[in-house]
Amino acid sequence: MKKNLSVSTNNKLISSAIEYVRELFAGNSDGHGFDHAMRVYRNAVTIADGEECDATVVALAALLHDADDPKIFDTRDNANARTFLDDAGVGPETAERVIRAINSVSFSKNRGKTPETAEGRIVQDADRLDAIGAVGIARTFAYGGANGRSLDESVKHFHEKLLLLKDMMNTETGRRLAAVRHSFLEAFLRELEEETGEKR
Ligand code: NI
Repeated sequence: MKKNLSVSTNNKLISSAIEYVRELFAGNSDGHGFDHAMRVYRNAVTIADGEECDATVVALAALLHDADDPKIFDTRDNANARTFLDDAGVGPETAERVIRAINSVSFSKNRGKTPETAEGRIVQDADRLDAIGAVGIARTFAYGGANGRSLDESVKHFHEKLLLLKDMMNTETGRRLAAVRHSFLEAFLRELEEETGEKR
């Protein structure tokens, strides 16, 4: 049975999640903030359309996936995500599925294993898509600038991580979208080589 509950039926819930995340990340601009959460949410909704899944769990997990990122927040047991889910009156079963999807995407909690649930696999693809393509390039150099990385060091990150992501996608739609963004990364590196006369 296709259990793809429409996100639009839960519009109120989703918009309050968006507001919660906006406030949570207020003042944070290191690339893991509100804009990132919104892009991951949009990617996740697109991918969920072609998958058997609970679209509400996907949407909430995408919006909240970095709500307890240890690089930004000092929380235990997904406290920020749980606060929203409790306050919004999301039932315990759905809340657990959201938390499970979030934790299966977190590298530190999951050590790179493929998420066990469809919702986790979708959000992971959505998060990975945001690391590649034009947005991925912008994020890499924004992070590099903020952390004193040279151009060469940022480009190294393309080879060590970004160019590997297209072969790590879980879903059909994720693979298709990643292929487009991957070509854009390759085009960027070719143009950079052309302009600098240096192969990287
Ligand atoms: Ni993320």
